[in-house]
Amino acid sequence: MTTPCGWRVSTEPGLFIGLMSGTSLDGVDGVLLESAPGTPPRVLAHAARAFPTGLRAEFFALNTADFDELHRSALAAQQLADLYAEVVATLLRDSGVSAASVRAIGAHGQTVRHRPDLGYTAQINAPALLAERCGIAVVADFRSRDVAAGGQGAPLVPAFHRAVFAVAGADVAILNLGGFANLSLLFADGRTLGFDTGPGNALLDHWAQRHLGHPYDAQGAWAAGGAVRADLLTQFLADPYFSRVAPKSTGRDDFHPAWLERHLSAHAAQASPQDVQATLAALTAHSVAEALRRAMPAVCELVICGGGARNTDLLSRLQQALPGVTCRPSDHSGIPAEQVEAAAFAWLAQQTLLGLPSNLPAVTGAAGPRVLGAVYPA
Ligand SMILES: Nc1ncnc2c1ncn2[C@@H]1O[C@H](COP(=O)(O)OP(=O)(O)OP(=O)(O)O)[C@@H](O)[C@H]1O
Ligand SMILES: [Mg+2]
Repeated sequence: MTTPCGWRVSTEPGLFIGLMSGTSLDGVDGVLLESAPGTPPRVLAHAARAFPTGLRAEFFALNTADFDELHRSALAAQQLADLYAEVVATLLRDSGVSAASVRAIGAHGQTVRHRPDLGYTAQINAPALLAERCGIAVVADFRSRDVAAGGQGAPLVPAFHRAVFAVAGADVAILNLGGFANLSLLFADGRTLGFDTGPGNALLDHWAQRHLGHPYDAQGAWAAGGAVRADLLTQFLADPYFSRVAPKSTGRDDFHPAWLERHLSAHAAQASPQDVQATLAALTAHSVAEALRRAMPAVCELVICGGGARNTDLLSRLQQALPGVTCRPSDHSGIPAEQVEAAAFAWLAQQTLLGLPSNLPAVTGAAGPRVLGAVYPA
């Protein structure tokens, strides 16, 4: 078939790899996906690599203005390509698939700035190097075309969520709990909406690192033993982001350690570190639940993906805040929680090769549907 872009591509089922390194800055998730237009895609393999400590620290540092960022970003991009290539090699080895039979890799890159309000979003990535390392075509830079069309450039996953998780006759919502949290709303009448609700794990991870010396609060056990400080929660929720209407997207540019410090110092009563953790967990749960109730009052099921789906405390807070809604990890709906975002970027790479748009203007606010991404041939 010849696509609207004039490329000749196959519409037979094909293999695609998705690579996601998200705002939690924990590492890379990769999946091998079998997909054909119009049929639900299938995950064949999953592999993950944590960021080496130095690279993780450098990505954190590159999230804020600092010395010699261009040079440092270029070097960090090369290290990221090496890590991406390791994940690809593991996927191919584990599944016994050759590089030649993979049509493309969708490589998200590492977001270090997200300022659609200023007309840009920036992901550190080295797609040309990755194509050289793997001998597979790479699709990258998924967000900038939507931003160029006046959109938020995020979230980009709702179209994939509809392809995989839609249930006939039911209003279903998908929640991705990464560093930040985003909802996809799959209405029974066929409409799809979506937006970032606010912080997911990012502030929880920051506070756990600072007070426990761990990259995250495993299962949310520490938060579960703390008390939610209602006055502090009210103060957090007064941030204007939560009342803004969609389209909207957020990240470390809006919610960062200094944001938290500002609130803690403005808060009259002293809260213990553990109570702060409980209150941050409540912030994620309440901001998601409020947004969901407002945007999809008849929702009956909330499918949860992303690493935050493993935070038992966070899930029980969500369930409490959403009585009558079945809240459960995406494992029950066919794809394990940590594989969904990477699978989405494999699917988005396929859309790009097919010359098909994959942003949803009702979600991102873009002027229209756009073919996303740039292709680096094998
Ligand atoms: N066992 C667990 N208990 C509590 N939290 C967990 C657990 N496992 C993972 N997490 C949380 O999940 C995070 C990683 O999730 P994930 O990789 O989905 O986020 P991400 O990289 O920010 O992705 P994205 O930005 O694409 O949504 C960790 O930083 C941690 O906060
Ligand atoms: Mg991650």
